[in-house]
Amino acid sequence: MKLLVTGGAGFIGSAVVRHVIGNTGDSVINLDKLTYAGNLESLAGVSGNDQYGFEQVDICDRAELERVFEEHKPDVVMHLAAESHVDRSIDGPAAFVETNIVGTYTLLEVARQYWNGLTGERKAAFRFHHISTDEVYGDLEGPEALFTEQTPYAPSSPYSASKASSDHLVRAWYRTYGLPVLVTNCSNNYGPYHFRKVDSVNDS
Ligand SMILES: NC(=O)c1ccc[n+]([C@@H]2O[C@H](COP(=O)([O-])OP(=O)(O)OC[C@H]3O[C@@H](n4cnc5c(N)ncnc54)[C@H](O)[C@@H]3O)[C@@H](O)[C@H]2O)c1
Repeated sequence: MKLLVTGGAGFIGSAVVRHVIGNTGDSVINLDKLTYAGNLESLAGVSGNDQYGFEQVDICDRAELERVFEEHKPDVVMHLAAESHVDRSIDGPAAFVETNIVGTYTLLEVARQYWNGLTGERKAAFRFHHISTDEVYGDLEGPEALFTEQTPYAPSSPYSASKASSDHLVRAWYRTYGLPVLVTNCSNNYGPYHFRKVDSVNDS
């Protein structure tokens, strides 16, 4: 199987890429614009592998996305590319609207066009996995509270509002066009290659 992973140079995306290359026979095309959050050093251990390919592309660039789909013919898409830091979204929301909403829309359109051209088993097996966040549900009330998939959306920052918007677009592309999608809303992650907070950088 060939996975197209967007945001594969980021914190979680690079863990996905390292996992796939290190533990499966599948191959990965990492599509990443390399913003301040992208770090190719996190992929140094796998970048020489035959199963790995890299495309420095902005998900808002439709022509380049079309080229990548045409050239690499992925079996599935895992969409992690995003502006992802809440504090930055308060200082500069424009990039969040551009990448998280317009970029996801552009990727959905190119994926739909590509999926429409597939046939048989490849078409049936295709999936567009959109990686979202539990922040679309707003704030928990107390330590015992929890979110479920039925919790109403209540985003409260430009970041979470832009992710909520992208979730709605992904669902609409399923309901309207039948594009086979998955949406996951995980909680906060931490681990190797986590981008340091700007405060910590300034403090150091
Ligand atoms: N980190 C968490 O705890 C957490 C929790 C829940 C959900 N998520 C979601 O998981 C995904 C990955 O999060 P992360 O923490 O790895 O983010 P990150 O900021 O570390 O990585 C994002 C990656 O996307 C790339 N990117 C940004 N804009 C782009 C564009 N326009 N085109 C192409 N690439 C672009 C960056 O270069 C970077 O490599 C995001 O969608 C985020 O919303 C993260």
